[in-house]
Parts: sequence; C-alpha cells; structure tokens
Amino acid sequence: MNDLALYIENGKKLIDEFIKAHFIKKHYDKKFPHNKFSLADAMLYTLTMPGKRIRPIILLLSAESLGFYDKKKLLPFASSLELIHSYSLIHDDLPSMDNDDLRRGKPTSHIVFGEATAILAGDALLAEAFVMLSDKDYIEEFDPVKIIEIVSEFSCAAGAGGLVEGQFHDVNSFGEHLDFEKIEYINEKKTASLIASACAAGAILSGNDEKTVSEFRKFGGYIGMAFQAVDDVLGITGNKEILGKTAGIDRINNKLTMAENIGLERTRKLIEEYNKKAMAHLEKTGAETGMFIELIKYLTDRIN
Ligand code: IPE
Ligand code: IPE
Ligand code: MG
Ligand code: MG
Repeated sequence: MNDLALYIENGKKLIDEFIKAHFIKKHYDKKFPHNKFSLADAMLYTLTMPGKRIRPIILLLSAESLGFYDKKKLLPFASSLELIHSYSLIHDDLPSMDNDDLRRGKPTSHIVFGEATAILAGDALLAEAFVMLSDKDYIEEFDPVKIIEIVSEFSCAAGAGGLVEGQFHDVNSFGEHLDFEKIEYINEKKTASLIASACAAGAILSGNDEKTVSEFRKFGGYIGMAFQAVDDVLGITGNKEILGKTAGIDRINNKLTMAENIGLERTRKLIEEYNKKAMAHLEKTGAETGMFIELIKYLTDRIN
C-alpha cells in the first residue's frame, strides 16, 4: 500500500467513527410503533455505506499539506462535508431527478424507505452538517471567526450558487443539446464547488491567509472538474459492479454529459488539462504537493 492508500484508509476510519459517535450522541432514533424506521435509520443508511469519502479526505489533506497535522480537530469539518455529499446523492437519485435505484452498491434510499422519507433524510443530513460544524463540543479550540468562514464556505458551495444550482440546470436540461461551456458550468457548480470548499476549508483551518485560501479553492475547483469528467467517462465505460450505481443512466435520462459531448478521448485530455491547472494553483501556495500528486493519479486512474 502506498502512502496515499494508507492515508485514505486511516482517514475513512476516523471519519466513519466520528460520524457514528455523533449520531449516538444525538440519538435521532425516535420511532413510533407503526413505523419500521427512525429518521436516523434513513440518514445513516446512505451516509454509512462504503463510499470514497473523498471530500473529507481532501479537507484533511489540504490542512496537512499546509502543516496542520491534528486530524482529530479537523474531523467535524471534514465529516460535515460527507453529510452534505450524502444528502446530495439521496436527492440526486430520486425519481424526479436521476431516477436511479442503485447507489454505493445498494438500493437507493427512496427504494428502501419510500420517496418522502428519502427527501426528509436528505433534508436532515444537510441541516445536520451545520449542526455538526457548529457544535461547541467539537470546535472550541478554533477562533469563532474561522467557524463562520467555514459555514460561509460550505453553505455557498452547497446552495443556490453551487451544488443546488448545478443540479437545477442538470435536471432541467435532460434532452437538451448543451454546448461545452454549459456542461462545464453545470459540472463546476454541481460537483466542483463542494470539492473546492473542502480545499479552502483545509487552508482556513490551518490558519492561512486569503491568498492561500483562494489558491486552494481554485485548486479544488479544477480537481472537482476532473472528478466529474471522470465520473461521466465511467458512466459510459464502467459497469454497475465496479461503480455501485447504474451504468449508462445518463443515456437513459437523455442527458448530455461532457464525455458524450466531446467524446471519450477528448474528455481524457480535458481531465489532464484540469489536473495541470489544479497543480499550477497548488504550486503557488508553497504547500506540500506529494500527496496531492498521488491523489490526482488515484482519482484519474479510475478511467485507465
Ligand atoms: C458521486 O460522488 C457524485 C459525483 C459528484 C460525481 P462520489 O464518486 O464521491 O461518490 P461516493 O461518495 O464515492 O459514493
Ligand atoms: C453528481 O451528479 C452531483 C451530485 C450528486 C450533487 P451525477 O448524477 O453526475 O452523479 P452520479 O453519477 O449519480 O453519482
Ligand atoms: Mg445527477
Ligand atoms: Mg446521478
């Protein structure tokens, strides 16, 4: 196992333990006798399924590359990103959105719990992310100004100028012939914005200046663009055993992804370009780049 693989394995374990302990502390598990499931059951179903945990890992790596090594202190911020991400997956799979029945190798939330509970589990996860990152028990060692900066970073990335905006254009463009710029815009909003916020948060929490935070945000934006382009290539070339989600769903939905628009070969080149642009921003910061070079390789090699 290389350094990054070990880092990811260890990081995933810490994140999953933190999330589990948080839900035990909160016990959102009230159940009426006529209900089979609690709200916590539905929230934890998607949240604790095996996923890559790449957004929290990227936050940890960002802080660490700038010399902040105390992972434990970063866990509430890192884990809150996984809550936002899991909510977005639950809603993304709904019948009114991508209408997918498989996620992380298991039936999607609405298949298991019904559509209303899946919507509510998503809503609750999004709110819980902000409960988590403003919980006094977790954050007292940080300057409150930094916490406000993180809340601003994550809420902007998740909302009407970020992930939700991207999803809005995405689901309202099924069957449309989008040009390259529009697809790039959607990918930047729906996927890259949250990954960019993970990088910016790592730089904020490790006490860096605005210029460094901004370069980290741009770095994350480009790795996020590459990440979505890789996902779109895999949507064509992958299968459901590898992906843990329905292969070919974009074609079923008549959705023009980047890979469909410019073809697989040009998308592969585009991914390289995004990665190069990402590294150019990182190199301006004086951060330790070694683990990020490995990370980019790990994320991109999924299509090789
Ligand atoms: C899937 O994200 C949705 C996209 C933004 C492409 P991931 O590929 O990070 O999914 P998990 O968390 O590993 O399941
Ligand atoms: C990814 O959407 C963006 C979000 C989930 C916010 P996709 O629809 O491209 O992702 P997958 O392929 O279903 O994971
Ligand atoms: Mg989608
Ligand atoms: Mg989808």
